[in-house]
Amino acid sequence: MTEKVIPLADLRYQQSVPRIPAILETPSGLLSDALGRPLHDLRISVTDRCNFRCVYCMPKEVFDKDYAFLPQTSLLSFEEITRLARVFVAHGVEKLRLTGGEPLLRKHIERLIEMLAAITTPDGRPLDLTLTTNGSLLARKAQSLKDAGLKRVTVSLDALDETIFQRMNDVDFPVSDVLHGLDVAHRVGLGPIKVNMVVKAGANDDQILPMARHFKDSPFILRFIEYMDVGASNGWKMDEVIASAEVARRINEHMPIAPVAANYAGETARRWRYLDGGGEVGMISSVTQAFCGDCSRARLSTEGKLYTCLFASSGHDLRALMRSGRSDAEISSALAHLWRKRSDRYSEQRSIDTAGLRQDRRVEMSYIGG
Ligand code: GTP
Ligand code: 5AD
Ligand code: SF4
Ligand code: SF4
Repeated sequence: MTEKVIPLADLRYQQSVPRIPAILETPSGLLSDALGRPLHDLRISVTDRCNFRCVYCMPKEVFDKDYAFLPQTSLLSFEEITRLARVFVAHGVEKLRLTGGEPLLRKHIERLIEMLAAITTPDGRPLDLTLTTNGSLLARKAQSLKDAGLKRVTVSLDALDETIFQRMNDVDFPVSDVLHGLDVAHRVGLGPIKVNMVVKAGANDDQILPMARHFKDSPFILRFIEYMDVGASNGWKMDEVIASAEVARRINEHMPIAPVAANYAGETARRWRYLDGGGEVGMISSVTQAFCGDCSRARLSTEGKLYTCLFASSGHDLRALMRSGRSDAEISSALAHLWRKRSDRYSEQRSIDTAGLRQDRRVEMSYIGG
């Protein structure tokens, strides 16, 4: 058997073990980073695997049968995830989002949800516990997810046209199964449900209007996402991005919309409502209108590294702390130290050369979580 060669440049292996401060501190729930941003939102990747090969996320040429996904022993156990989640919640996190890869591929995910649903904020409120999924297993799992204590789901869907959707997911997965998953999730009460559509010029931008029409006057909130330069394998180019302003213009031409105030500080999407009362749509404009200014999101990779930005090139190994027997107080103090130093604001600073190409390399979104 030939051994799998791990490229030295694989950023998953770039990490540091956090320092434990000499004086331990009690979390106040009021942590603030170097730019004054609180820690409010923790996104937990529970697997780096996915049954889709979306062209903008896990292109088939890279994520092929030889790709070295993480071995089972590297993954955080449910107990480890829950332990870390408690530490984050003590520091002010109120929203937990499970991501992947495709989180519903993680075995017994309902058990993890039960464990996380039992956590409350320091003043006794329940957390906003949610999950991002491609919808492929949703019809089958929605009821058990709800029963386990999941509050809501967000579903990715990039087209209604079968040919275009299958070209985007690149595994011939049919649209109808995702739509069915959405309906079942709505029926069991996993709402409000958001539908995320990544818009890639020339690939699915002619689906903007059909998607808007389909989800107008429905219980689902459609959000258009600018194609981002995340990861190192999608061959991102600026001219494949359709700015949200253009998306809004196209929709407004046929179905008039007006801006609405954000639901909460640090919201990724700018909200718009249909003037005829047909509900709302959102635009997530990380490329043309970066929202780092009040970014309160931390990310925990599948193997327990903390990333303080979606575009970071290295993580802080919290698993190493847990597996070397550090106490909750030590881990909590190390986290406080890391967050206070945080100054990431990649989307506001991205450098793109004259050919519209990005300048540096970083971890994949399927690894770090969307
Ligand atoms: P809500 O809690 O429903 O408001 O969800 P959310 O918008 O916080 O999370 P969601 O996973 O739905 O995010 C949608 C998309 O926004 C992601 O898939 C990313 O494309 C993008 N996104 C989310 N968080 C960030 C971030 O911190 N930075 C950047 N640049 N993009 C992000
Ligand atoms: N640009 C924007 N969003 C992306 N996602 C993955 N890759 C990208 C990218 N390059 C997000 C999408 C998808 C979720 C799982 O991750 O929102 O719905
Ligand atoms: Fe899988 Fe989501 Fe990435 Fe598509 S975007 S390949 S569904 S993790
Ligand atoms: Fe937050 Fe980094 Fe995204 Fe900016 S680019 S919003 S700092 S995760």
